[in-house]
Amino acid sequence: MIKVITYGTFDLFHQGHYNILKRAKEQGDYLIVGVTGEIYDLERGKLNVQDSLLTRIENVRKTGLADKIIVEEYMGQKISDVVKYDIDKLVIGSDWYGKFDYLNRYCEVVYLERTKNISSTQLREKQKIYNIGIVSDTMEDGEIVLESKYVSGIHVESVFMEDAGQAAEYENKYELAFSTNQMDEFLKDLDIVYVRTKLEQRFGYCQKALSEGKHVICENPCSLDSEQLKVLLNLAEEKKVLFIDNVILAYLRALAQLTWMLNRELIGQLIKIRCCIQVENSNEFGMVDRLTDSILVFQRILGSDYKEITMNPVYDQNHELIYNQIIFHYDNRMGCIEIGCTPGMKNQLEILGTRGRVDLPDEWWNMGYFEASEGAGSKLKRYSFNFEGNGMRYLLHEMLLMIKEGSEVSKKMQPEESLRIVEIQQHILKELQKEKMHFRKEKQSVDEKKEG
Ligand code: CTP
Repeated sequence: MIKVITYGTFDLFHQGHYNILKRAKEQGDYLIVGVTGEIYDLERGKLNVQDSLLTRIENVRKTGLADKIIVEEYMGQKISDVVKYDIDKLVIGSDWYGKFDYLNRYCEVVYLERTKNISSTQLREKQKIYNIGIVSDTMEDGEIVLESKYVSGIHVESVFMEDAGQAAEYENKYELAFSTNQMDEFLKDLDIVYVRTKLEQRFGYCQKALSEGKHVICENPCSLDSEQLKVLLNLAEEKKVLFIDNVILAYLRALAQLTWMLNRELIGQLIKIRCCIQVENSNEFGMVDRLTDSILVFQRILGSDYKEITMNPVYDQNHELIYNQIIFHYDNRMGCIEIGCTPGMKNQLEILGTRGRVDLPDEWWNMGYFEASEGAGSKLKRYSFNFEGNGMRYLLHEMLLMIKEGSEVSKKMQPEESLRIVEIQQHILKELQKEKMHFRKEKQSVDEKKEG
């Protein structure tokens, strides 16, 4: 029996795909088709894939030509597939000419002429483009414009700013199609609204966009009042649109993988997670604003059943908050956040277990790299992940897949999770405000005594 294997993404399945499968099948008696996995595509920077893996597999299956379908998950898998399945021929389109000659040592490599005038790329260009509009109050947040260029099917169209002059300046700077300070005009032709204003205004803009039936991405936190967040989540559900919290970390495979590894006792029983963050703005809001990633890590890795949260804030001579240590007390383990604006603060995340530790240096919330060590003298294991740009492309890509599949809830970050995080932030903010009042009163009475 002659066994043949072929590979592809098979996005927006077309005649060219059918033809190559048919001709590959004719090359032997048994055909295996490798379909590229979503993670593999993301890692090699192919963020333009429109169909989910399930759809792409289903389309290949429907041809009736494949005897077996496998998922191609990593670079270098082809060699092991060829050996594992005892393959006689690898068949691939002529666009790959010469690229797979290295496999000649294991099997025959056959390049077949591509079908002319059709490709997934061409079809993608004809697909519906989802228009994004930005609601902003500063000139400095054009990153989404750049990030959206890596996700096909999405286009940043316009900007809304309260000041029409500023809006026009923004439009020019980022080469958008139009700008306005009129909300109704702005919303008219949009599919997705990205709200990126000061915290106080986020809720109002999100509410307006959701009630007009637009999908919304909101800068995190969208509000520090959990009741407001509930209103938005309910509104999104009622209007059957997506409401996405811009928490990039939740969309990174690295976090899912780290959580999985720790659950499987990579470093034994967990003792402590310590997240350190340096902030520019050390007031209470500025600090609480930056806690989302740490709380998300605790929720995912340690769980949501903490017993208590305690804090040790430190103030400077002007009674301004400069550092805080926030401890989440769990049964027999803890999460600790150290956050401050002093130059000595370092961004890092460390996880301590009974058998070793995991370290994520620098901007750990990007999770590009981590290392695990199992006690003194043992070998260090290093894990690195692809992280491009500011990461928003991963969120946009996921959002687009969800919109297309008619899902109203993000699979990567559930509404309950967003809500729990905001409830915790709200609690911490209240406690900090109380502490500050207390600190000021104490200081005042000490000063009065001194003067007296
Ligand atoms: N293929 C083909 N003829 C075409 C398009 C694709 O023979 N007109 C073959 C490719 O050479 C490959 C397989 O189909 O062996 C899967 O290709 P894939 O990359 O999934 O499809 P493309 O249409 O080339 O996708 P893209 O435009 O994203 O590169």
